[in-house]
Amino acid sequence: MINSVVVLGSGKVSYHLVRALLRSGINIKQIFSRNNNTGSQLAGLANCGFVNEVSDILPDADAYIFSMNDDADKVVSQKLKTRKNKIFIHTAGSLGMNIFESKTENYGVFYPFQTFSQSTDLDFSKVPLCIEASNPETLENLKILSEKLSCKYYEITEDKRKILHLTGVFACNFMNHCVYLGEEILKGADISEEIIKPLLEQSFYKILSQGAFSSQTGPALRNDKISMEKHLEYLQDNKNLSDIYSLLSESIFKTYNKENGE
Ligand SMILES: NC(=O)c1ccc[n+]([C@@H]2O[C@H](COP(=O)([O-])OP(=O)(O)OC[C@H]3O[C@@H](n4cnc5c(N)ncnc54)[C@H](OP(=O)(O)O)[C@@H]3O)[C@@H](O)[C@H]2O)c1
Repeated sequence: MINSVVVLGSGKVSYHLVRALLRSGINIKQIFSRNNNTGSQLAGLANCGFVNEVSDILPDADAYIFSMNDDADKVVSQKLKTRKNKIFIHTAGSLGMNIFESKTENYGVFYPFQTFSQSTDLDFSKVPLCIEASNPETLENLKILSEKLSCKYYEITEDKRKILHLTGVFACNFMNHCVYLGEEILKGADISEEIIKPLLEQSFYKILSQGAFSSQTGPALRNDKISMEKHLEYLQDNKNLSDIYSLLSESIFKTYNKENGE
């Protein structure tokens, strides 16, 4: 059973995870981070010790949650002493759990399929957790931890987790970037960015209620060549934007013409 943890990393995921762990009564024994500022702030929030040297990491937590970047998860875990009866888990989308295999028999993944920002509040109980473990006992412990956090969990293998991560890049990261590009176009034309918010709200409402496929609208769907030419003319001095516009328009056109059997 996981009753106490050390959290390694003090970035976005660590921040939200620490808050959720605190709410569920898990004892956070220590924060490790290379970043003295965010590390000590997070330790202050968790009311626990902060260290920035691997050699100072406490040996007696039930679990060690690695939430740095992929390379740091590997490097720091390699520097840690072997802790055969402890649980090592990481929160990464595209990293195998076997990075821990030489350190403990009990290891796994605790990947939250959500987008985290420090400045935005989040109901952690709505975060789907993708779990994977080296043995049935560790898997059971990760299920119990997920339940303590009031989260829905999914047993997802490494191959499927990578696909999920890829899906997140399309559905969240690319979508977000497209909204950012739209905001920049508004700014460049001296139009208030506020005007886009109702459109975004209604777009998300439609996607969530009826799915993305039937929510699509716009000139590429209608194959409205005149509008698309006008847009590309406006973007003619910006190769990046005109390339993205053409690529996405072509993808939309092909998607619906394939579905219609044309
Ligand atoms: N953000 C998300 O939406 C999200 C969602 C699901 C899963 N994840 C995964 O969760 C993990 C953490 O992501 P995050 O968004 O919390 O990242 P983050 O905000 O960038 O924080 C990363 C943390 O790792 C530290 N770090 C980076 N490189 C390091 C190194 N070479 N040595 C030691 N520490 C290092 C950073 O320290 P500094 O502050 O000094 O850079 C920071 O404390 C990643 O595996 C990510 O893939 C992220």
